[in-house]
Amino acid sequence: MAMVGSAVGLGNIWRFPYMVGEHGGAAFIIVYLICCFIVSLPIFFAEAVIGKSTHKDTFGAIEELVPGSKVKNIGYLPILASFIILSFYSVVGGWSLDYLIRALAGGFNGRSIAEAKEIFAGVSSSPLENVSCMLVFLGVTALIVVAGVNKGIGRFSKYSIPVLFLMMVGMAIFSVRLPGAGKGVEYLLRPDFSKLNGKAVAAALGQSFFSLSLGVGTILTYASYMREEESILRTGWWTAIFDTIFAIIAGFAIMPAVFAAGIEPSAGPSLVFETLPVIFSKLGFLLPVIFFIAILIAALSSSISMLEVVVTWLVDQKKTSRGRASLVVFLCAAILGTLCALVPRVFGVCDFVSSNVLMMIGALVFAMIVGWKIPRERVMELIPSRFFYMLIRHVVPIMILAIAITNLL
Ligand code: PFF
Repeated sequence: MAMVGSAVGLGNIWRFPYMVGEHGGAAFIIVYLICCFIVSLPIFFAEAVIGKSTHKDTFGAIEELVPGSKVKNIGYLPILASFIILSFYSVVGGWSLDYLIRALAGGFNGRSIAEAKEIFAGVSSSPLENVSCMLVFLGVTALIVVAGVNKGIGRFSKYSIPVLFLMMVGMAIFSVRLPGAGKGVEYLLRPDFSKLNGKAVAAALGQSFFSLSLGVGTILTYASYMREEESILRTGWWTAIFDTIFAIIAGFAIMPAVFAAGIEPSAGPSLVFETLPVIFSKLGFLLPVIFFIAILIAALSSSISMLEVVVTWLVDQKKTSRGRASLVVFLCAAILGTLCALVPRVFGVCDFVSSNVLMMIGALVFAMIVGWKIPRERVMELIPSRFFYMLIRHVVPIMILAIAITNLL
């Protein structure tokens, strides 16, 4: 459930539905599924094999598997990526918290989209509001991690993810029954194969990567806590299936409501913080409240996995306590998060570098280690599937290089 929590996040809610609509509806979903199960799932398995076979943090695991060489220093990159993503993700987490409070106070009632745009511009440019909400979000993340892997991360995920799922299903049922919602359903589902070009495939691959939290050590770190009898294959399949189903349900919660209100669909902050609060508040007090609680849970269950990567590294390598490590990472992420909150350019650079460069390098390294370094028999013990072993060894490295080049271009 913790792995599902890491996977299910803002990416599912604010990027996937728009991407589907823009790149050919059901046709894009088919491409996404192929990318997810042929490229991303094998990377998930590779990361989990490294974690489960070493029971170490990201750096320690790579050091054990590629000993005595400079290559081991590559292990710092996923940890750095997790830290960077945590910092800018917390800014968005902070906005969600801010918006939940506004929704509880009925702050969107009777507002127009133009007014909502002004509110968002005010929130995102107000240093005090922006930074304080980010700090609270980051603080809650740290408190969950301090409580421990079982009592903090495990317990939070076990209870909050099913609730999140139910909330989204409820919103989707509500949304598709609105008058005029049919166009939104059509936007999501009508297959348009003419829109399937190289760009759509690269978008599908990049999205499935980000959505499964790959290449930054979260899956590796969580897998390092797996028991011998727990199956990597089963965990990976469930995570990917659940993550995809959640993204599709989020699409049904969002797009039909957007079309029913006669508004052009969009993605990212403008969808979540400008369009949706206005649309949902027209439909009752509860809907925006539920929506922002859902966003908060989705963001928190992802941010704890990023913090855990860095904390596990500090605990294992620097021999600090979990509490002290969490405090140190909290303070450092608070500094970078403040910069991201105050300087949009820093936010943009952090997003670009972590998703387009560091994640790709991390995923490539994990696939190469499992495909070419760990003895085949050992890998087959952990993931008894010749097909997935072949994908990790040959297909994944080529595909990662292809996406990296496409994204950079
Ligand atoms: N999978 C998360 C999402 O879809 O929003 C994003 C994410 C979480 C990326 C954790 C990286 C990570 F380590």
